[in-house]
Amino acid sequence: MLDTSSILFIILLIIIIPVLWIFWPFIIGAGWQPTSKKRVQKMLKMAEVNSGDVVYDLGSGDGRIVMEAARRYQARAVGIEADPLRVLWSKLVLMSSGLNNRVKIVWGNLFHQDISEATVVTMFLWQDTNQKLIPKLIKELKPGTRVVSNYWKIKGWTPTKEDKDEGIYMYVIDQGYQPG
Ligand SMILES: C[S@@+](CC[C@H](N)C(=O)[O-])C[C@H]1O[C@@H](n2cnc3c(N)ncnc32)[C@H](O)[C@@H]1O
Repeated sequence: MLDTSSILFIILLIIIIPVLWIFWPFIIGAGWQPTSKKRVQKMLKMAEVNSGDVVYDLGSGDGRIVMEAARRYQARAVGIEADPLRVLWSKLVLMSSGLNNRVKIVWGNLFHQDISEATVVTMFLWQDTNQKLIPKLIKELKPGTRVVSNYWKIKGWTPTKEDKDEGIYMYVIDQGYQPG
């Protein structure tokens, strides 16, 4: 039989684990808020995504951006997501979408994943997270890669295109950018 302190410890664990689970993405980059379907279209259109592209969504949530990039533009796409429940959900949606051959969902911290094969990067993170990402974007992305940020700018970079009404900003990696 378990004693009282063991039972209390188990109850604490049962409470703490879901709380940590929910708040972990807030700690490492951004909370969950899906991009509207209209904005997803605008982001992909702004980047002029095509079938030759490899689209990476950093913090892919339910996978809507990567799946749309594959469905509408026949691009190959990779979503990186830290929240295991959203990874599970997006993998289930992916299985029923018929897009498995072009879309991959990776469970992990976007700061620790290799993104060098991307030709388009999309993100809807937080301002601080965008700024922390600058050295990684510069180090790993090839010149010419388009980086589209929903809502938050990348401070210190000049957008090549922007939709001021919607708050969508596109940057093109070139040799000129220096880590901020
Ligand atoms: C605002 S939501 C955007 C979701 C999706 N990209 C969209 O536009 O609909 C941000 C997502 O990033 C994830 N996230 C935050 N920090 C992360 C990190 N360091 N690594 C991977 N995913 C992260 C969160 O779990 C959340 O699902």
